[in-house]
Amino acid sequence: MPMIEMAQSTDVRTIRDLSIATFAETFASQNNEEDMEEYNERHFSTDVLQREIDNPDSTFLVAKVDGEPAGYMKVNVGAAQTEEMLGNRMEIQRLYILDRYKSNGLGTRFMRSAFDMARAQGKSIIWLGVWEHNEAALAFYKRMGFAQFGSHDFMLGADRQTDLLMEAAVDRLV
Ligand SMILES: CC(C)(COP(=O)(O)OP(=O)(O)OC[C@H]1O[C@@H](n2cnc3c(N)ncnc32)[C@H](O)[C@@H]1OP(=O)(O)O)[C@@H](O)C(=O)NCCC(=O)NCCS
Repeated sequence: MPMIEMAQSTDVRTIRDLSIATFAETFASQNNEEDMEEYNERHFSTDVLQREIDNPDSTFLVAKVDGEPAGYMKVNVGAAQTEEMLGNRMEIQRLYILDRYKSNGLGTRFMRSAFDMARAQGKSIIWLGVWEHNEAALAFYKRMGFAQFGSHDFMLGADRQTDLLMEAAVDRLV
């Protein structure tokens, strides 16, 4: 049975390995290598990830299948959100499942955890950004009840890309 656990300060290596592996699986085929490497260095260094894990406004959850890391989710509240948002919002900044563990319900379970956390913290809206060309993720979020409310720029290395911003009300059942 898969387990979803909150990452601790000492889990930075697991988060780093998962971050780099899932980012490559998701985006390497549609983006150039230099942009991918620059992104890894800037966002997935041990120092950067350690600071994020230790930030009280960010939470990393890790899914394990038979004890092996299978995916992770990063959520932000308050000033940790990647866009300035009202205090009643929670951001799902990252939700990534390793290829071999996809389509087993882990994404849905992470999403339920996010809604539970948001509800427990009195948040009323969950929002996220998703690359406009990430069809699989767009379909998944729509199925989860998210609807587009805007867009923002996302820098993948030197490549400026468009992320669609999507939101869902927390009081709905997932
Ligand atoms: C998008 C993503 C998070 C979904 O995670 P997931 O674990 O595959 O999601 P689920 O298994 O809960 O649901 C996915 C599909 O599996 C099906 N499914 C759900 N539970 C299932 C189960 N127990 N057995 C078989 N299939 C199942 C669902 O019907 C769903 O199908 P659909 O989305 O094609 O309609 C995952 O595909 C992923 O990590 N993608 C790459 C990273 C990415 O793009 N992240 C988003 C960046 S913004």
